[in-house]
Amino acid sequence: MFADTKKLLEKASAGKYAVGHFNFSNMEVLQGMVQAAEKLKAPVILATTESAVQYAGMPYLVALAKTAAQSAKVPLALHLDHGTDMKIIREAIHSGYSSVMIDASHEPFERNVRMTKKIVQLAHRQGVSVEAELGTIGGAEDAVRARKILYTNPLKAQEFVERTGCDFLAVAIGTSHGAYKFSGAGKAKLQLDLLQEIRKRTKIPLVLHGASRVSPALVQEARKYGARLKDAQGVPDAQLQQAIRQGISKVNTDTDIRIAFDAAVRKTLHDQPKDIDPRHILGPARDAVQRVVEQRLRVLGSGGRG
Ligand code: G3H
Ligand code: 13P
Ligand code: ZN
Repeated sequence: MFADTKKLLEKASAGKYAVGHFNFSNMEVLQGMVQAAEKLKAPVILATTESAVQYAGMPYLVALAKTAAQSAKVPLALHLDHGTDMKIIREAIHSGYSSVMIDASHEPFERNVRMTKKIVQLAHRQGVSVEAELGTIGGAEDAVRARKILYTNPLKAQEFVERTGCDFLAVAIGTSHGAYKFSGAGKAKLQLDLLQEIRKRTKIPLVLHGASRVSPALVQEARKYGARLKDAQGVPDAQLQQAIRQGISKVNTDTDIRIAFDAAVRKTLHDQPKDIDPRHILGPARDAVQRVVEQRLRVLGSGGRG
């Protein structure tokens, strides 16, 4: 069934588990995610970035998500991740997304407030909920500029939520996007004290971006078949679970899916060099996505909550 992101997150917040947000831009990744959600009876947020929209076109992405939701027994929401382009955000609000993110976190505080408030007004009129970000999550990918982590200030977070009326808040507590999150051995550490301070001063569901685990086994598998990935540390499961106990209700994962998909495609091309059928190449990658998402849902504690 097609779901309301806000309801999913309020339920998660009350139940002290987190809903998984997973990024997709093609059918196989989406189907892998949905297969995992169905198997574990977990609610899931299907997310597209603006670059996914540029790649596939919004109508295709909406149709894929709605088609999946129509036949799924579990709740599936559709979310715009890291919205920065007002035109794309408006289009998402009017195209049937359950929620949108306005990411003006790179802007000065007052401008972030103004931009977020504007999107909240537009979105709420259509029954769409809004995620905003305060502080900056590190890392660089298409949707996010190269950034240094700028930790969220708890007092500013309280003021930001009160003034903007946003429904969920993405917080910067040490994570980065992409495969290289923490530099230096033993550095994989979330600022859980800071999270506690933010939680005390805000009541809405909190969101953790850059939450991929970056499994060494998957990195090794991808490397075995030619990927040039360096050793890296992702977010340890135990710290993620502690963050969930302390108020994180939505956990974003993209990189883990990319690594799993990439490793599976490379393996098939290596093992079956004479096979040119896209279904034989992408089918195992879809299964690999399913396995990764299942693993994530178990860590988030959202199995059986759908
Ligand atoms: O959080 C953002 C994504 O991991 C980056 O996604 O390359 O689709 O823009 P993108
Ligand atoms: P990862 O790069 O850790 O998967 O984070 C994804 C994300 O935050 C999407 O918004
Ligand atoms: Zn993100």
